Amino acid sequence: MEAHAELRDEALARLAACTELAELRSVEKDYLGPEGAIGALLASIPSLPKEERPKVGAAANRLKKELEAGLDKARGELETARVAAERAGGDFDPSLPPRRAARGSLHPLTKVRREVERIFSSMGYDIADGPEVELDYYNFQALNIPVDHPSREMQDTFYCDEEHHLVMRTQTSPVQIRVMEQRQPPFRLIAPGRVFRNEEQDATHNHTFHQVEGLVVGEGIQVGHLTGTLKGFLAELFQRQVQVRLRPGYFPFVEPGFELDVACPFCDEKGGTCRVCKGVGWVEFCGCGLVHPEVLAAGFGGRDDVDLDKLTGFAFGFGLDRLVMLRYGLDDIRNLMGGDLRFLEQF
Ligand code: DAH
Repeated sequence: MEAHAELRDEALARLAACTELAELRSVEKDYLGPEGAIGALLASIPSLPKEERPKVGAAANRLKKELEAGLDKARGELETARVAAERAGGDFDPSLPPRRAARGSLHPLTKVRREVERIFSSMGYDIADGPEVELDYYNFQALNIPVDHPSREMQDTFYCDEEHHLVMRTQTSPVQIRVMEQRQPPFRLIAPGRVFRNEEQDATHNHTFHQVEGLVVGEGIQVGHLTGTLKGFLAELFQRQVQVRLRPGYFPFVEPGFELDVACPFCDEKGGTCRVCKGVGWVEFCGCGLVHPEVLAAGFGGRDDVDLDKLTGFAFGFGLDRLVMLRYGLDDIRNLMGGDLRFLEQF
């Protein structure tokens, strides 16, 4: 009991001497914290003579309550004093604007996706979507991707459930088949969404990224429609005329298939030391082509409201993350999904 009385005197004296919140915190830690003096007092009880134990226990608990109340009161007083001092002159300046309330902002991917959707909507496109966990059939087979195609290999595809043939979709192209099954041509749509690949991550590769698929189906669709559309889209996005060029490219679901490049919007095709196009003058923008007849057959086959002989279409798919990086001059794709608010707050 003597030790207890000493402890109490000391604690109350320290409390009374506090002039700052930080000091209160250290008093709290020294007495009430996990390694504090009151805890030690309680821990010593079992070693005391039996008849002393209840008395010391009760006293220690009283002291604990007393200190907690004292700390609360002192905190309140310090806060009131601080506000009063501010008001009385000191640091308080009534002409300053109020502190800015913390406010969220749209993710850069959301901003650019909405911009893409706005532009395509203005060109008469619908917005479609499909599941992120997809059947092997839609992700591969129906898209004319043969069983031995390299993109099927384990290192690219996250297999969810092999028994039920479920994969994390590796591309937004399966949405093409899903909408063909549901809709009556002609139609035009884009399908933005998340895709997944089991890849090593680096500054330009992430296991989760975003694509925008485009699909136009009707009669008499030609390559000129494809390039005209993408050129129009890019001009609107970058708010200037842009040059595009086609290179042959292989994708099993289009024939002919192309890679479409856009003249670097940063250096205007001059190349040189441009960081964005690495001096090439062009940046790869998307894969595209005329929809393969096998794909049209998979999507529309067996329907009497669709004449497969007359049906044509074009498709394209581009990476949204890359577009965001182009737009804001970013150099590491991992930042986009990294969840670091210090990065995201800049947009
Ligand atoms: N799905 C392809 C990929 O992920 C991109 C693509 C290429 C989409 C050509 C298309 C296309 O619609 O026609 O690499």
